[in-house]
Parts: sequence; structure tokens; C-alpha cells
Amino acid sequence: MESGISKNQITAFDIDSSFETEIKQLDICFKEHDTLLSLFPNSYNEFDFILGNPPYLNKASNYVRMNRAKLNKIYGKINAHETYAMFIVNSIWRLKEGGKLGFITSDSFLTLSTHRKLRRFILNNCLINEILLAPKNLFSNQNVSTSPAIIILTKCSGKKNKVIRNNNPMRIIPRVNNEQDYQSPPDVKEIKQIKYNSLPFNIFYVDVDEEVIKLFEESPKLKEYLQGFIGMHTHNNRKYIAAIEDTELDLIFKKRNVKISNSNKKYKIIQREALKTGKWKPYLKRGGSDQYYRPIMEAIDWTNEAIKNYDIPKNVPFEKEGIIISGVSSRLAARYMPGGCYWDSNKSIGFII
Ligand SMILES: C[S@@+](CC[C@H](N)C(=O)[O-])C[C@H]1O[C@@H](n2cnc3c(N)ncnc32)[C@H](O)[C@@H]1O
Repeated sequence: MESGISKNQITAFDIDSSFETEIKQLDICFKEHDTLLSLFPNSYNEFDFILGNPPYLNKASNYVRMNRAKLNKIYGKINAHETYAMFIVNSIWRLKEGGKLGFITSDSFLTLSTHRKLRRFILNNCLINEILLAPKNLFSNQNVSTSPAIIILTKCSGKKNKVIRNNNPMRIIPRVNNEQDYQSPPDVKEIKQIKYNSLPFNIFYVDVDEEVIKLFEESPKLKEYLQGFIGMHTHNNRKYIAAIEDTELDLIFKKRNVKISNSNKKYKIIQREALKTGKWKPYLKRGGSDQYYRPIMEAIDWTNEAIKNYDIPKNVPFEKEGIIISGVSSRLAARYMPGGCYWDSNKSIGFII
């Protein structure tokens, strides 16, 4: 209103109708609706400006749990965990091309890997005009502890605008101490939007040294040397995977078998020699933090009867020599993979040189 927009062009939306009286006193329109769920074909490309302080409700909240299926259907491909992320997507859809969005939200979407797709969505559809890290304690009197960021975006979508987006100069403002700093912040960085493609997961960095960015941009990429492939599923590892004698797993299986000595579902243990018959193949399943090398501990039943039950992805160069990386580990665990091996899709990724 202070910018001179005529009042009949402004509408405030909230799911909570108790705001109606207060809003109407401003002489602007109020509509009660669930912004996230009331998206219709004519909701797209509707607004010139969208301003908001969207709710921060995470996936454990009543709202997200109660509406999970509907939210997943609309936002699942980008992020259906936190409402503020869905509000960003929703509002970009609702903006006209060239329209502007200004939100104050949690700053977690800038860096968390769970918000990677949201960042990609923003990069593909918007010019990032400004990201300002607002004072940390801004909402602490309302018992909100997330640290806030203010983002200003202009909708500029489509492949045809890619060069414009890449060359867009963004104003990036590291955390300010108080709201008075918004107008003339002490530190403003101008960064070209294309730079947000350089760090892994498209992190929207604010305070990263130029040297670090350069390293990411100029270092050769692993993918120039290795190709990675997910593995296969047996659908019943207990039945088809055996421990090879005299390995760590052999000891584990023996202990387990003592505990379940009355059961007929014993853990299988095979002689190393059995690998030479072709009826068993070496198998790579887990690996935790074992680095660089570990003797193979597991074998997979390779009889025709067993193979029938497996899901084996096509075009994966099983049996080639390479490197195996454990998919379930708190730190990178890469080991030598000799020729002749198969690997499990849930637990490891095979890389061929
Ligand atoms: C952080 S408050 C901001 C309130 C006010 N706009 C402000 O800036 O002071 C978030 C607001 O979003 C509303 N809200 C929550 N979920 C909503 C939804 N799905 N659709 C529309 N509004 C919603 C809440 O009722 C609440 O008023």
C-alpha cells in the first residue's frame, strides 16, 4: 500500500479466518483458503507480486501428516516435507512471468541437501534478486527458533531464459544484526546466478571463499573417470546370500545359527572353493566404514533356480573390475572390487573405471 498499489488490487489469504476483521480494516480484500491445497488450473500465472511469511510446519506437524497424500501429489517431485518450501513452489507457480516474490522464511533451504530439488526449481524458474540473512533472533519472542532469510525472486522460467538466469547478478547479504540494516547492509556480495550451479547439491552459499568455489569449478569431476551403477535385488537375502568360510561374516553367521539352532532357516555358509563351480558368485552388499580393501565375505546363489527370483538391472556391467562404494555409511567408504562380482542395490554402488 505504501508503494501506491491501489487497494482493490491487493488480497490477503490465510487459512485462519480470524484475520479477516483486521485485514478488512485496511480496506483490502481477505480470502480464507488453504493456499497449498487450493491450486486450480487458473491459479497459475495469476499475480504480479506475492509477499509472505509462510508457516514453518515440518513433516511431523499435524497439518502435513493429515494432508500428506494431497501434498505429495502436488509438491512431491520437489519437496513435500516443510510447508514453507511448498509455499515457495506454490507461489512461483502463481506468479506471472516477470512477477516478483518476497518471502521471509527459514534459511535452511539454502543449504540442506533435502532441499536440493527446491533449489534446482528456483534456479530453473527464477532470477534470484536478493537473499538476505535476517537477524537470528528475529522471531525468538514468538518462540520460533529457526534463523530467517528474506528472498526476493523474479519469475523467469523456461529454457529460453537460461542464459538470462545464469548471468543474473544476485545480491547476497550475509547475516545482519538488526532490521535497520536491511536498507543499507554492511556487506553485500554480488554473485552471478550461474555460480549456484558449482557446489554439490546446488547449495545457495552466502559465505564461501572464492578459492573453494574455484576448486569445485576447476577440479576434474569423478564422472569423467568412473561410471556408477546401482545393483541387483535378490528379494530374499537370507535365502540366497551365504557367508564365505573363514571371513568375519562366517563368524557372525555361526553365532547367529547357534542362537537359532532349532530353526530350519539357518544362515548359509559356503566353502571358498564353491566360488569356482559357478554356482556361487562373489557378492558385495555392505561394507560400513571398511576402506580401500576388504576380502569378499559374501556369495550369491547363482543356480538357475535362484536367478529366476532376482531383479538384475539390464546394462549394468556386473563382473567387471572396479570400485564399490557403500551406500550405507556415515563416511565415504570405497573399496576395490575385483572382477567377477555382483552387488546389492540397497547397500552399494558399483563404479567401473
Ligand atoms: C508465520 S504466520 C504469518 C502471519 C502473518 N502473515 C504475518 O506475516 O505476520 C503464517 C500464517 O500462515 C497461515 N497458514 C498456515 N497454513 C496455511 C495454509 N495452508 N494456507 C494459507 N495460510 C496458511 C497461518 O494461519 C498464519 O497466519
